[in-house]
Amino acid sequence: MATLIIPLLPFFSSEELNITLLDIHQESIDNAEKIAAKLGYLDFFQGFLVRDATKYMHGKPIDVLITETMDKALTKEPQVSITKNLAHQISENGMLIPEKITLYHEHVLFAELLTAAVLDDEKRISNMPTSGKLELFSIDKNIEAKDFEFQSTPIEVPKIYNETPDICIQTEIKIYADVFLHPTESIITNPYCVGALSSIKGSNYQLEYVSAPEPIWIIKK
Ligand SMILES: C[S@@+](CC[C@H](N)C(=O)[O-])C[C@H]1O[C@@H](n2cnc3c(N)ncnc32)[C@H](O)[C@@H]1O
Repeated sequence: MATLIIPLLPFFSSEELNITLLDIHQESIDNAEKIAAKLGYLDFFQGFLVRDATKYMHGKPIDVLITETMDKALTKEPQVSITKNLAHQISENGMLIPEKITLYHEHVLFAELLTAAVLDDEKRISNMPTSGKLELFSIDKNIEAKDFEFQSTPIEVPKIYNETPDICIQTEIKIYADVFLHPTESIITNPYCVGALSSIKGSNYQLEYVSAPEPIWIIKK
């Protein structure tokens, strides 16, 4: 529905913005075009394109690139592959939104973790990553163009872990400047459980992230 751009259009004139909308599904693009037409915003748009954003070449530098094609812990959807392809097409002083996505690791009791469904600010803050949690990696407009893969350093299995038996990944999104989506503030920043510590026989394990063909996390025992 192009919800990230349509509500902002009343603040601009069509001379100020030249927008290209991209989606892999014809139906999504058709609906976005219908909404833009109904609201009288067609002049803002240079194109409504049905394309694979992991391969799309814009042909000229992009000033502002907005991509929201993600799920929690950067699983399922191709946010990393799309960022990898399009970030290198941003102009020198151009910007990527979201500016930065950072993933953290922690051991938790997953069943007791709060999610975005629990809309209580005080409780939500207790769920945010702290300096005690291990940062895994982040992506921003300087992401490497080659295949993106990540392997953590060895993570120790605690001697006693009955209170925190699950391996969890938390997501934090810096949308722009001081505007953040913290863990549990949205479906796409909800905690993600990779597996159980009880499945690991050794004294440590590594976490591996593969961005393509399907973005997944793997526990290397
Ligand atoms: C989570 S939705 C976000 C929708 C959008 N942010 C909005 O405001 O409506 C992700 C969208 O990405 C599209 N998508 C998934 N893979 C894609 C790809 N490789 N290239 C282009 N679009 C893709 C899906 O069809 C879906 O419409």
